[in-house]
Amino acid sequence: MVSRRSFLRGSLGIATGLAGTGYYFHDVTTGRYTIEDVPIKTKLLNDDLYGLKILIVTDLHIGAHNMTLEHLDDIVDAINDKQPDVVLLAGDYILANRDFRSHTNYTPSQITDALEKIKAPKAAVLGNHDLNRSNNMAARLTQAFDNSDIPLLRNQSIRLDTDKGKIWIAGLDNMYGGLPDYAATMMNVPDDEDVIYLTHSPDGFALLRRNAALAVAGDTHCGQVIGRSFADAVDGDYVKTREDWYCGEYSLIDGAPAYVSGGIGTSGIPARVFVPSRSEMIILEPH
Ligand SMILES: [Fe+2]
Repeated sequence: MVSRRSFLRGSLGIATGLAGTGYYFHDVTTGRYTIEDVPIKTKLLNDDLYGLKILIVTDLHIGAHNMTLEHLDDIVDAINDKQPDVVLLAGDYILANRDFRSHTNYTPSQITDALEKIKAPKAAVLGNHDLNRSNNMAARLTQAFDNSDIPLLRNQSIRLDTDKGKIWIAGLDNMYGGLPDYAATMMNVPDDEDVIYLTHSPDGFALLRRNAALAVAGDTHCGQVIGRSFADAVDGDYVKTREDWYCGEYSLIDGAPAYVSGGIGTSGIPARVFVPSRSEMIILEPH
């Protein structure tokens, strides 16, 4: 028979668990956004770049529940407060598939206008939502980026000037919905200069064929609500070749560090549970 004490203890445990889940559910669905410092060890060709702070912004899904332009402005303010050296925009700016709490779709230029207020040097790639075929979205987003001061990299690279020196950003067109071309992506990057490899889907890491200071991706939402199975399915339920990427730091075959961001917005389900809405600010450290 269950004693009164163990019954009370069990009930207290369940109540605490529900309260914790409720807190997290409420917290993230009401839009609390955090930026986490993440030191990562790497081997750089230019020692001056140690200490470089690279902030990842991914999976905003503007138009999803709580992802309003007003909230985006707050996110941009928080990013500027952190004073990163570089900001990488890793795709999925919009929500292609409306969910039951999503609201009015914003125009691509409203989103790029807000992102332009990020003060640090920056570069962007598109995600699978951005590349969806409805509403001519990929072309409209590309146009909005072209009209902004944010370089959109579709199998291209760019050298950014930072306070610590110059660093290349090489952006692969997305593996899903795009036309990825690794050779074109790296074509202009000299072998003796440092590069950060940017791809929306972490599946793009498999194409990397040179030393990189860092490889960065988003897409998985770190599981968003139910962990790895959601991470496998989110945004890419049509994807059959998806690797077992989740979130956090990985080491690639050539030893280059890689980081999969937990992301900011939601897709499919208008909530993030135990996976707070966040960016990570990578700080490059020597091995
Ligand atoms: Fe996404």
